[in-house]
Amino acid sequence: MTNFWDSLETPFGCLAPMADVTDAPFREMIAKYGKPDVMWTEFVSADGLYHTREIQKMPDEENPLMKDLRFSSIERPIVAQVFTSKPEMMEYVANLIVELGFDGMDINMGCPHTAIEKQGAGAALMKTKELAVELIQSAKKGLAGRIPLSVKTRIGYNKNELEEWLPMILREEPSAITLHARTRKEMSNVPARWEHVAELVKMRDRMGLSHVRIIGNGDVVSVAEGEEKCRETGADGYMVGRGIFGKPWFFADSEEPSIEERLRIMLEHCRLYESYCLHKSFAVMKKHFKAYVTGFKGSKELRIALFATNSVDEVEDLVQQYLKSRV
Ligand SMILES: Cc1cc2nc3c(=O)[nH]c(=O)nc-3n(C[C@H](O)[C@H](O)[C@H](O)COP(=O)(O)O)c2cc1C
Repeated sequence: MTNFWDSLETPFGCLAPMADVTDAPFREMIAKYGKPDVMWTEFVSADGLYHTREIQKMPDEENPLMKDLRFSSIERPIVAQVFTSKPEMMEYVANLIVELGFDGMDINMGCPHTAIEKQGAGAALMKTKELAVELIQSAKKGLAGRIPLSVKTRIGYNKNELEEWLPMILREEPSAITLHARTRKEMSNVPARWEHVAELVKMRDRMGLSHVRIIGNGDVVSVAEGEEKCRETGADGYMVGRGIFGKPWFFADSEEPSIEERLRIMLEHCRLYESYCLHKSFAVMKKHFKAYVTGFKGSKELRIALFATNSVDEVEDLVQQYLKSRV
């Protein structure tokens, strides 16, 4: 197996999976303006993929879920994240992820969304821990050693269950574990507690499993901070979620771009989004507008105007008008 995790220098930086945010166009922008060491796709439903491809026989080119799994080679190494609570679906999707050419596969065991938890997947797996272990085993069976497997989870469901939950995952020896240092109950509403990342590192070392990479996640707002947290906790890497909103240059070792440059990058992102012809509407771009257009004179008015747009041409007109008004 070519295991890219083994060749990463530490500390490494990872782009978090974020549904409706880290889609292919945003990832391509990130890869161009500040590439992290590892990228993740948004989560994709294994059951949905099975149903659309094998039951409905939907052609892959028309399948919205397959569109979510598109990526370009500049994003490598890229990990596809999946969710399901059914071992046979996990095995099915693992084989598909290999066929699609991903560098790794990740299982979501931390998502708190009702729609995911209702299926027994995501964070709900922390309540059915034996099933979670079975799912890891099914994923490995499907991957058949061709690409590495990783798991992303939290410290527990209602309370800190690190001592019980994480050894169960560690014993399955995934290539990497991302720990979002909060419980399911806490969502993202309290500061992440990185001391639990340090505890996980110690636990891994005590178990003699130093080949399992540990990635800490929660509240990282700069590369320097992510690296510092790795030094403090012994984690091999850090993962950035909300910190990268509106900042595809986050991982670059460069100055903050000027307002003009920021707006130009936003426009480029819009064009790329349109060219991808995703199944999602242009409205998805609006959460990006909110993040790009903030913290400068006139940003509030520009943001409000951008929220009313429905096409890239309209966005371009507004950006041009704004830039003219500044000179
Ligand atoms: C809009 C949004 C969508 C998310 N989607 C996913 C997802 O698809 N899979 C996943 O494992 N986590 C998902 N997360 C959680 C993030 O990956 C990350 O664990 C969390 O935001 C904490 O990191 P941060 O404090 O750096 O944002 C999502 C978070 C946000 C804000």
